[in-house]
Amino acid sequence: MQKNTRGLIGIAAITLLSFLQQDVFSQKVTIPIETQHNALVLQTNATNNLGIIYLGPKLSDKIEYEAIPAAYKQTTDYTGVANAAYATSGSRNLFEPAITVTHADGNNSLDLQYVSYETKKLDDNTSLLTIVLKDPVYELEVKLFYKTWYNEDVTEQWTEIKNNEKGNVVLQKYASAGLYLKADNFYLRQYHGDWAKEMQPEESRITHGIKTLDSKLGTRADLFQPPVFMVSLNKPATEDEGSVLYGALEWSGNFKIDLELDNQDNLRIIAGVNNHASPYTLKPGEVLTTPAFLSVLSHKGKGEASRQLQAWARNYKLLDGKGTRLTLLNNWESTYFDFNETKLKALLKDTKELGVDLFLLDDGWFANKYPRNDDHAGLGDWQENKSKLPNGIATLVSEGQHNGVRFGIWVEPEMVNPKSELYEKHPDWVVRQPKRPEYYFRNQLVLDLTNPQVQDFVFNVIDNLFTKNPNLAYIKWDCNAVVYNAYSAHLTNQSHFYLQYVQGLYSVLQRIRKKYPTVPMMLCSGGGGRVDYGALQYFTEFWPSDNTDPLERIFMQWEYSYFYPAISSSNHVTDWGKQPLKYRTDVAMMGKLGFDIVVSKLNASDLEFCRYAIKNYDAFKYVILQGDQYRLQDPRDNAVAAMMYLNPDKRSGIVFNYLVNNRYDEGSARPIKMKGLDPRQRYRLTELNLYPGTTSTIADKSYTGEFLMTVGYNPDVKASRTSVVLLVKAE
Ligand code: GLA
Repeated sequence: MQKNTRGLIGIAAITLLSFLQQDVFSQKVTIPIETQHNALVLQTNATNNLGIIYLGPKLSDKIEYEAIPAAYKQTTDYTGVANAAYATSGSRNLFEPAITVTHADGNNSLDLQYVSYETKKLDDNTSLLTIVLKDPVYELEVKLFYKTWYNEDVTEQWTEIKNNEKGNVVLQKYASAGLYLKADNFYLRQYHGDWAKEMQPEESRITHGIKTLDSKLGTRADLFQPPVFMVSLNKPATEDEGSVLYGALEWSGNFKIDLELDNQDNLRIIAGVNNHASPYTLKPGEVLTTPAFLSVLSHKGKGEASRQLQAWARNYKLLDGKGTRLTLLNNWESTYFDFNETKLKALLKDTKELGVDLFLLDDGWFANKYPRNDDHAGLGDWQENKSKLPNGIATLVSEGQHNGVRFGIWVEPEMVNPKSELYEKHPDWVVRQPKRPEYYFRNQLVLDLTNPQVQDFVFNVIDNLFTKNPNLAYIKWDCNAVVYNAYSAHLTNQSHFYLQYVQGLYSVLQRIRKKYPTVPMMLCSGGGGRVDYGALQYFTEFWPSDNTDPLERIFMQWEYSYFYPAISSSNHVTDWGKQPLKYRTDVAMMGKLGFDIVVSKLNASDLEFCRYAIKNYDAFKYVILQGDQYRLQDPRDNAVAAMMYLNPDKRSGIVFNYLVNNRYDEGSARPIKMKGLDPRQRYRLTELNLYPGTTSTIADKSYTGEFLMTVGYNPDVKASRTSVVLLVKAE
């Protein structure tokens, strides 16, 4: 425990500190939250409210944090709480609040004052700071949590809101976190999308007022806008230069992220669950825990921020993030709903022939009264369809084993078609307005996961599959509809629907993970409609988009990679796009490789190529799945895009190079600079994934890391060589 006379305590250095601040009005309490490179510094003010006085590179002398506020001569802060760590409303705050309440007596004001803080060192790398705030007039308590990962510079923030009043308190807004930044200018990189158009970036200078990123879609909440963003400070950060903060809400439902540039030209970020149609009634004694908001700050550009975040995800968040991944053959695009046991048995043989680890049976295997022969019927009836699969899944699982191929299966357990036995039996389990006509998204409705009976049903869909087929090796969990007509027959308070839906989903996923802790599961939502770190703690990978056109995927995977590691990105080779098979395969190899093609229709060279590429992938996937990712040339700014993966020991790397502009004579005219290598080490470049009958134009030669990073390499990408994969090996 360490404390100086002015109440300044460095949390990184302290284990288990519990400190009750008695003399708060005479003394400021300063709390620096430090990671390897940064500090977020909180400080109480004259009215005992907790504010953010700094977020930036950490200082060697912690005492100097106290001098920061005086260094700014900005316009008047009329309230004293403009920099609030967790902004309230109804008292002095004039800006976007993090929390808004209606007390038991109907009063709408809230003032949160500092009470105490405590720091726990959870392990060598992780600390948890808890700060208690209380209203001096009303019995409402808020705990702010700051969990930090020192090496990765990642912070998670969330809150617990406790009602100690005698009656119900209504939380009109209950964000997870607030941040307050100072810089000359702020630039936002945000994302939007739709089906097959996920992760489209837009970058703009933030102007005064509030920019809101949000979703009100309920289930596949990220379809139009994902809960991730970046803010560059002073000037737009480049790949390797500039200060940039990444933010992400770990929540699979409605979210709201407000970025408010205020009268002092400072940027307030308030992030949390969307309070749209969701006031939450907190009973006496009840505690509401908000989801975590994560942030990472880098002063060396977007590249470093992304590597820090990816490392954090692999080490601490993504399920089995340090493990490996299975390659697979999926039958969705090769059969759609049209298959039977004979056809699938042939596909199992194809899986073996191709050389991947697993066969993934997609949609269409279930339902009898209303067979799932297209997307209009059957969802909810999770019994094998007797005419397609007279001997059930079990026979396919064992046939797979026979062929040395593992077996996985698609489910969409949160959903129901109106044409289903489930709908007929349990209309009260369906999210729909009782007095209004139904409205469908992909001909289906959402099941009411706020209802514990529905949670049991969804859990049992998965549990029954594993009970009947203990050797089942993989689940693809889909979610193809948004919530229309939000109404739960189970809930008495409809305002709790959106929040409790996601809580219900997480409780099912927790039960599944308790019983089946390691089975790989893909998070899919008609493409990338539900990619977030709240869900990814239960999933090993996600499906970025149904759009598998490799040219589109180069752009999309590029943007996802800022926030999510390659090991979590399921990339399949399909028939989308006009690019040759080699191009499609190379692009899919940039994450977790899969195929969704008709293997039996491949010509001999194509099959030979695929088998060879899969062997290469198996040999080097540890670099792709666990390596550090360096973006060398952005497809948005260049005719040739280049992405590099480097093993942390800097001895092996893989560089993917693609022609992304088909205009006359476009290609790699100039060398491309590698990054991250050891300058003194010599590296040999070898071309991988050559299509049968072609030879490499890359000289079999070695270069120093210095040369490759200063002058660069030329992959010789051109119209006749549109995709080039290079192995970089230390000699
Ligand atoms: C969604 C998925 C696809 C496929 C279909 C099946 O669209 O994204 O990959 O599984 O559902 O209906």
